[in-house]
Amino acid sequence: MIHTIIEPFRIKTVEPIRMTTRDERRRWLDDAKLNVFKLAAEHVLLDFLTDSGTGAMSGKQWGAIMEGDESYAGSKSFFRLESVLKDLTGYRHIIPTHQGRAAERILFSVTTKKGDLIPNNTHFDTTRANIEYQGAEAVDLVIPEGRQPRAQHPFKGNIDLERVEDLLRREGHRIPFGMMTLTNNSGGGQPVSLANLRAYRELLMRYGKPLILDVCRYAENSMFVKLREPGMQNRTVKSIAQEMFSLADGCLMSAKKDGMVNIGGFLALNDSEWVEAAKTLLILTEGFPTYGGLAGRDLEALAVGMEEGLNEDYLRYRLRTVEYMGEKMKAAGVAIVEPTGGHAVYLDARDFLPQIPQEQYPAWSLCNALYLEAGIRGVEIGSVMFGKRNDDGTESYHAMELVRLAFPRRMYTQSHFDYAAEAICELKARAHDVRGVKMVKQARYLRHFTAEFAYA
Ligand code: F0G
Repeated sequence: MIHTIIEPFRIKTVEPIRMTTRDERRRWLDDAKLNVFKLAAEHVLLDFLTDSGTGAMSGKQWGAIMEGDESYAGSKSFFRLESVLKDLTGYRHIIPTHQGRAAERILFSVTTKKGDLIPNNTHFDTTRANIEYQGAEAVDLVIPEGRQPRAQHPFKGNIDLERVEDLLRREGHRIPFGMMTLTNNSGGGQPVSLANLRAYRELLMRYGKPLILDVCRYAENSMFVKLREPGMQNRTVKSIAQEMFSLADGCLMSAKKDGMVNIGGFLALNDSEWVEAAKTLLILTEGFPTYGGLAGRDLEALAVGMEEGLNEDYLRYRLRTVEYMGEKMKAAGVAIVEPTGGHAVYLDARDFLPQIPQEQYPAWSLCNALYLEAGIRGVEIGSVMFGKRNDDGTESYHAMELVRLAFPRRMYTQSHFDYAAEAICELKARAHDVRGVKMVKQARYLRHFTAEFAYA
């Protein structure tokens, strides 16, 4: 019996990556005002900034691209995608969008008003920003274990049903619908169990509220259910996914994740009134409903990608890669969010850099240090992303200070991961030299993308 889990693909096209020196990286990072979002990607060796839209497409997807029907209206590529998505989700209406946040903006514009509350396990940053943009409030109600980096739980993305019920009882009139994010990206890429989703669904139904899923990483979530939830081992990942979709009234998806494409997203809904309003807005800002801001070839690549994203050999390798990196971190005494999630390893920056106070953004500082040390780009999931400057000039901070190393799909091989693990261990030995930062410029929304920093 051979236990090694290998990349279940071989490589046909390669893209060189460039080795750089520490001096070069120091200069580039200074030029970027200590914000890795502002680096030129060619100055990055291993890019773990995001798993969104960064993966490698298959030969089959590239083949499908040649079949793209670029008709403005009624493109056959749309009907192909629609049939794949209807079969998978069971929802009546499929509305393509250029990516996830476009689906978010449209959904919240047509369903949400000032003063509303939208519960979720944890809203992703663009989801939260789009809700706040409507004057509504995004409420995070993940279970307590989901907020503690080292608490052990097979489904740390689960929502806290007691707190949901309490909110429904107290503020039900302000809640247009409930949401659930699969997997819980901001909380560590942690999965939600089928049982939790079902109970949440029943609770919302008792109060007459619909449920909308954010399904960016639904395939990874479904694989976790297969591996971890009692009684699920003999089911296909697709049938688990179908059951999850059946428990909700619609979903939005950034297809740049488990859709295995570089661009794309969609909104899928049952409610005809919402759909009509959404399509009106779609035409205003995205495009005609049979392309929604995408090219016909993008729709083709997505139709194939949705099927490849559910391949169980691929998903087993995918989750194992993340777990492998997590094991290497733990063996070196590097604190991470445990157990590892589906798409990323999250380093606990407070543990890594105990000398840096939260006012000096330890996770941001760690992110910069990783780039300087090894040319690796991660992303801060901490107080720059989720904290804010209040109107009275005070700062709010986030509960966790994490650095997410998100892994593009089907792109890096095991030696890339071994290199990254070694670099992080090296940095750990010199962690006391890492300096904190102060924010010298920030925007009102999504400030992490553009903020500028100086060493504290
Ligand atoms: N919801 C979740 C859970 C996400 O992770 C993302 C994107 C979105 C919505 C928005 O989708 O980028 O296509 O507009 N997450 C990326 C990330 C950016 O790096 O985690 P989008």
